[in-house]
Amino acid sequence: MLNIHNLTKRYAQRSAIDNLQLDIGEGEVFGLLGPNGAGKTTLIRLVMGLVRPDQGEIKLFDRYRPGSDQSRQLIGYMPQQLSVYPGLSVLENVLFFGRIYQMRNHDLLQRALEVLQMVELEQRQDDLVSTLSGGMIRRVMLATALVHRPRLLILDEPTAGVDPLLRIKFWEWFGQMVAAGTSIIVTTHNISEAQRCGSVVFLRNGQKLEQGTPQQLMATYHSDNLEAAFVAATRKQSSQAGPAETQA
Ligand SMILES: Nc1ncnc2c1ncn2[C@@H]1O[C@H](COP(=O)(O)OP(=O)(O)OP(=O)(O)O)[C@@H](O)[C@H]1O
Ligand SMILES: [Mg+2]
Repeated sequence: MLNIHNLTKRYAQRSAIDNLQLDIGEGEVFGLLGPNGAGKTTLIRLVMGLVRPDQGEIKLFDRYRPGSDQSRQLIGYMPQQLSVYPGLSVLENVLFFGRIYQMRNHDLLQRALEVLQMVELEQRQDDLVSTLSGGMIRRVMLATALVHRPRLLILDEPTAGVDPLLRIKFWEWFGQMVAAGTSIIVTTHNISEAQRCGSVVFLRNGQKLEQGTPQQLMATYHSDNLEAAFVAATRKQSSQAGPAETQA
């Protein structure tokens, strides 16, 4: 579904993504786990075709380039920053995004109501987004990413600032979507979320430290929790880089 080869993106001599190799299959929730500044958002922006790499290649669904019409149609994207219009209502926002994807009117309204029902906002559909709470806005953002029935959903910290109960709901929805055939790539620095992913990649300093199922990663580092495995993987990277190259 996503194949990344020798990918590098530099900002002012510093590599945000550093010679990354990554292959992700379809049919699961794939977690990109890394600390602040690890390069998660940069990687997603590269996959979306919003920024260009300095080096390397990205292939989507075995054939499409990032930013191509085909890949755009197949992907739903929820950015880390606010991506909905505060001056439009909840429903208007979802309809607006559906129209960007050229959905037909009769299908669009029905589908918009369906996604709003999933994120439990059907009662608030006529309210302006500016009158919603932060967690509700994240739900509207998820609905706008989903409306055109993407094959792949890319979510950049969808649960940032979301309370623990709503966070659980988000993960229930992800499970429902995967069961219905959608693949999901989700970034997080939350270990308990990473634990719920089918597969995880540990990212740090723009490099891949490890990739596997949570169980495989814990087994590799002989630990019974993913946090300890992540810390051990970062220690290994630091010792390989040597003291001069080690970044905080
Ligand atoms: N437009 C930009 N111009 C300059 N530097 C950038 C730009 N975007 C990202 N960077 C740098 O690239 C590195 C990776 O940033 P990125 O936003 O990808 O990290 P992240 O893993 O998403 O972090 P967070 O968890 O805080 O969202 C950081 O050092 C950041 O300062
Ligand atoms: Mg980010």
